[in-house]
Amino acid sequence: MPHRVVVTRRIPGAGLDRLGDLQTVVLGEEPPSREDLLAAARGASGILSTVTERIDAEVMDAAGPPLRVVANMAVGYDNVDVAAATARGVVVTNTPGVLDETTADTAFLLLMAAARRLGEAERLVRSGRWRGWGPEQLTGPDVWGKTLGIVGFGRIGQAVARRARGFGMRVLYTSRSRREEAERELGARRVELEELLRESDFVSLHVPLTPETRHLIGERELSLMKPAAVLVNTARGPVVDEAALAAALARGRIFAAGLDVYEREPEVHPALLGLENVVLAPHIGSASIETRNRMAALAAENLLAALSGQRPPNPVNP
Ligand code: DGY
Repeated sequence: MPHRVVVTRRIPGAGLDRLGDLQTVVLGEEPPSREDLLAAARGASGILSTVTERIDAEVMDAAGPPLRVVANMAVGYDNVDVAAATARGVVVTNTPGVLDETTADTAFLLLMAAARRLGEAERLVRSGRWRGWGPEQLTGPDVWGKTLGIVGFGRIGQAVARRARGFGMRVLYTSRSRREEAERELGARRVELEELLRESDFVSLHVPLTPETRHLIGERELSLMKPAAVLVNTARGPVVDEAALAAALARGRIFAAGLDVYEREPEVHPALLGLENVVLAPHIGSASIETRNRMAALAAENLLAALSGQRPPNPVNP
């Protein structure tokens, strides 16, 4: 009997094609309802999930004893209860390394769009109210030559630092340990979070969501930032206290923000929706055609390896 596998969303062909011989159920374009997910999971040996599904003990128990692997098509895996999986002997995998450059591009895209007010500018043109060039129209801070603070200096954080070098920026970073090679290569300097917030003109977040990083950036941290600073979040929404950010932006406590992720996706804090000085993207950090193909292929490889009893390329269980 071929393994029964549930793919929770339609994923690119590069991933689906690899699952060829398995009995594969693909749940659809949109995130499945909880009921549909639980029903589809019944008796599955493998689940290929995306960040929109909560894969917890209930889903694993719905699958039951056949379940061997949850292959998440993302580098982040806070949507999967890894402890529950480990307790049930289920391998959890992610897709690191294939989306670093694309996500770093998105961080820079938001950084520049927020600084140079691209969202407002676009809205002005589309509104038909634009009256032509203006000496002080839609001005924002320069990006080149400024200081960029990178919170979390893993693969994606370092890819952002490489881009910053091309803009002649000074790079500060926080990390649990010193990254000496990256420091040499990128001229970056490791500092404590407080110093980074005080010194940086741009702050970009690249930490995973864990109990320690939840609301890492709240009212106090925002109050340490420069009034002309820009905050960028392409990591996970709950790393930032959204209500505190909306209040800081509304008071002009910081200049602007660029967000790709939110505390309760797909909901966006209503206060953010009404602000001009925030650029809002719908979790598209890794959304290049090539990268989504690579993520899907890697998730499928992880799933297949685990189902055939081999060590998958990217296990995350401790
Ligand atoms: C990830 O990989 O964790 C992103 O959030 C989805 O691409």
